[in-house]
Amino acid sequence: MKQTTALEAKNIMKFFGKKTALSSLSFSVRKGERVALIGPSGAGKTTLLNTIAGIVEPDAGEWIIAGKPRGSYKSGKEFAKKVGVIRQQFDLVGQLAVIHNVLAGRFSEWGVAKSLVSLLFPRDKKLAIEALERVGLADKLYEETARLSGGEQQRVALARILVQKPEIVLADEPVASLDPARAEDVLDALSTIVEDEKQTLFASLHSVEYARKYFTRIIAMKDGEIFFDLPASQVTDALLGDLYKLKELPEHE
Ligand SMILES: Nc1ncnc2c1ncn2[C@@H]1O[C@H](COP(=O)(O)OP(=O)(O)OP(=O)(O)O)[C@@H](O)[C@H]1O
Ligand SMILES: [Mg+2]
Repeated sequence: MKQTTALEAKNIMKFFGKKTALSSLSFSVRKGERVALIGPSGAGKTTLLNTIAGIVEPDAGEWIIAGKPRGSYKSGKEFAKKVGVIRQQFDLVGQLAVIHNVLAGRFSEWGVAKSLVSLLFPRDKKLAIEALERVGLADKLYEETARLSGGEQQRVALARILVQKPEIVLADEPVASLDPARAEDVLDALSTIVEDEKQTLFASLHSVEYARKYFTRIIAMKDGEIFFDLPASQVTDALLGDLYKLKELPEHE
């Protein structure tokens, strides 16, 4: 039977001391879905994404990723074929030229030094150039990455995902720190890429407006639990009001 589930959370729990960061979460994401993870600060969004990427080890439960338990991936390279990660603070190397950072996506487990060597292979170079063309950075191939604007660096990270070609793309606040026009630009590029490549996207976002516009499904988290999980078109202002409502303060005497 054809595998149609990209990600499955099975009772994922995480504690930090007495704090329950993730409270037995279970849900699955079908291939090709674009899922936005929203919710107030401290809800557990980054922690959840980090349990998929393997940066945080859950205290209980497990992830099934592309049909296999997370723990059964033998190497970083095998995992990188399935899952690509765009981090909150990008792990781009500032001093390197743009094209080298993009090629690092192809050699995720080798590290950047060896991906520099890969520039000797014209086929890889061509892939990187095509990816940079698709994100609108064809004129910046050999620019030092640190000299690009925040939005342009975000595009470099997207180009790297294009070269890595994972089945699933994870992103933790991919447009934090961008102005609204740049943010829309990057989300537009990201959603077009994952749609064209038939990839699955799972990204945390602070902007509800962007979640509704660029994603097919919204999972809202609050205090480590799922508050709602709905198609983007069914998320109402009333639900969002409840999600972000601050705890009631005691009345003044
Ligand atoms: N390494 C850690 N050690 C202790 N507590 C942690 C750690 N990481 C996260 N937490 C706690 O777990 C909870 C969830 O944090 P998390 O970073 O996942 O929230 P978030 O939804 O991503 O918030 P934000 O929107 O601010 O990024 C918070 O209460 C946080 O303080
Ligand atoms: Mg976070």
